Amino acid sequence: MQMLALYSIKGGVGKTASAINLATQASLAGQRVLIWDLDPQAATTFYLRNKPKIRGGGVEKLVKGKATLEKTIRDTDMANLDLLPAGLESREMDTLLEGHKASRLRRMLKPVSDDYDLVILDCPPGLTTLSEQIFSSADALLVPVVPTTLSMRTLTQLQQYLDEGHINTPLWPFFTLVDRRRRLHQDSMTDFHKQWPARLSANIPYASAVEQMGVHQAPLVQFAPRTAAAVAYRQLWEEISRRL
Ligand SMILES: Nc1ncnc2c1ncn2[C@@H]1O[C@H](COP(=O)(O)OP(=O)(O)O)[C@@H](O)[C@H]1O
Ligand SMILES: [Mg+2]
Repeated sequence: MQMLALYSIKGGVGKTASAINLATQASLAGQRVLIWDLDPQAATTFYLRNKPKIRGGGVEKLVKGKATLEKTIRDTDMANLDLLPAGLESREMDTLLEGHKASRLRRMLKPVSDDYDLVILDCPPGLTTLSEQIFSSADALLVPVVPTTLSMRTLTQLQQYLDEGHINTPLWPFFTLVDRRRRLHQDSMTDFHKQWPARLSANIPYASAVEQMGVHQAPLVQFAPRTAAAVAYRQLWEEISRRL
């Protein structure tokens, strides 16, 4: 069971959109995928047409490893794709995780680790106890970066933070919300690969289809499979899968 986190210190950079579309691409490629919504805002849970509630004992039992995961994990409309939902109570996870070993998050899934090839974490923004858990549990951090100064600066801050904590989890950044007509975006992207050799090269364009995911409550492949954004997410997934 491999674990990839869609993570950024920043909000609004496309973590959730990317988590859903990469998870569906992986499931279409035949992987058994679990998407874990860790954000109390529960956007992933909503997009996948589920109720924002943690059944099977709530968040406390989940952290303690006593939850009945068969009750907590839900089906989605997509074959090979299951959901571990979030609810408002997911905000308690941060406090509940304090004092636990750093890889607790991964251990929480132990009872179902044979059922999935890949777990995709949709993370809330910030640098918290939960983030520390994510860093220690994930095999790589997929970091969506908008090609602007501030977004790229937070990526550098994240790398510094990991270096200072001697955390070796690799960062695989990629561009989202790309508008090629904007000079700033073009300029920001030019030298990026020199500074970040591990970056993923598929760029996710700014696309109204992605915004429409909220209206359809579905991943791109279900309602806009031939759009540039859907194609870019497929290419991004292929690039990631070659690294796994
Ligand atoms: N490629 C894109 N093109 C256009 N809008 C996007 C794109 N990616 C995300 N969005 C929109 O930007 C907002 C933030 O995206 P989201 O995935 O929720 O970010 P995060 O999870 O990092 O907070 C949402 O309204 C979403 O619909
Ligand atoms: Mg999100």
